[in-house]
Amino acid sequence: MKIAILPGDGIGPEIVDQAVKVLNALDEKFELETAPVGGAGYAAHGHPLPEGTLALAKAADAILFGAVGDFKYDTLERALRPEQAILGLRKHLGLFANLRPAILYPELAGASTLKPEVVSGLDILIIRELTGDIYFGQPRGVRECPDGAFKGQREGFDTMRYAEGEIRRIAHVAFQAAQKRDKRLTSVDKANVLETFQFWRDIVTDVHKEYPDVALDHMYVDNAAMQLVRAPKRFDVLVTGNMFGDILSDQASMLTGSIGMLPSASLDANNKGLYEPSHGSAPDIAGKGVANPLATILSAAMMLRYSLGRPEQADRIENAVKAVLKQGLRTPDIYEEGTTKVGTSQMGDAVLKALAQ
Ligand code: IPM
Ligand code: MG
Repeated sequence: MKIAILPGDGIGPEIVDQAVKVLNALDEKFELETAPVGGAGYAAHGHPLPEGTLALAKAADAILFGAVGDFKYDTLERALRPEQAILGLRKHLGLFANLRPAILYPELAGASTLKPEVVSGLDILIIRELTGDIYFGQPRGVRECPDGAFKGQREGFDTMRYAEGEIRRIAHVAFQAAQKRDKRLTSVDKANVLETFQFWRDIVTDVHKEYPDVALDHMYVDNAAMQLVRAPKRFDVLVTGNMFGDILSDQASMLTGSIGMLPSASLDANNKGLYEPSHGSAPDIAGKGVANPLATILSAAMMLRYSLGRPEQADRIENAVKAVLKQGLRTPDIYEEGTTKVGTSQMGDAVLKALAQ
């Protein structure tokens, strides 16, 4: 089985290195091939998603992705910015289902900014539609304002849209994920204001007929944002569109104390997937050896589970991560008094050691 390794920018390379060490330490050997992406792709080939990188991603059975983005590239025109790499991969590979779990490890309860009783035992799964919505809707751009009080001025605009089939397929993913968990699904929308999301609500309600064992509720996105900090444990699985999912998944991640702990999977219709930490490239700490590699290591575990059909290897990695947390090892982002501060590669080595035990 072939895995495309796309480290990207900022802390991407150093955290991906740790996950690669872990993959190489498993009993089963995988063929790993690395290619530049994001700012690194632009630097090497003049494009954030170079042709060779896209070809490798298409040919591979799964993709391990670090992170993209760096201040250096912020002044490039939009089409050449690092973010276009991840958006392009999602679109070209049809990775429409983004799974972002937010799990609070008991050892890290103190790292959350919320009261322990609000977050202890938290285990929720956000399912974000990833290839539609206002992210990809056409037309978009800057034009002359056609009407209203600002007629004739320049205006920026984007298009929010969801096709029926797009909503149906993500709804199926969400109901099926809920069936494997606590059988509760919350669909997040803005049906009170947006046509797109009234339609979303109607279609999700219709798909629900095929999953009578799952309890479905609908929630407006503003209320969902509030409930996520007020009583996050009321949720099991949330499903929402691309834009709302982007925002809510960052919010949910911080319930757990550190975004540095959270993996994610982006799957196509056949469970081929791209796996990446939920956090970004953090260029401010890049190269300092302090980044938390656990989200990337846990992303590799998700890859083994969802795309490579090796759930037992995934369990091994997840247990090794739990073991290092139990040993009290912490990168600076999750450090608390009384624990042991370690760097990126020390954390990777500790996971390797736990894996061998
Ligand atoms: C994410 C990121 C991306 C997104 C950016 C980097 C384009 O924020 O994966 O959540 O908005 O989807
Ligand atoms: Mg985001």
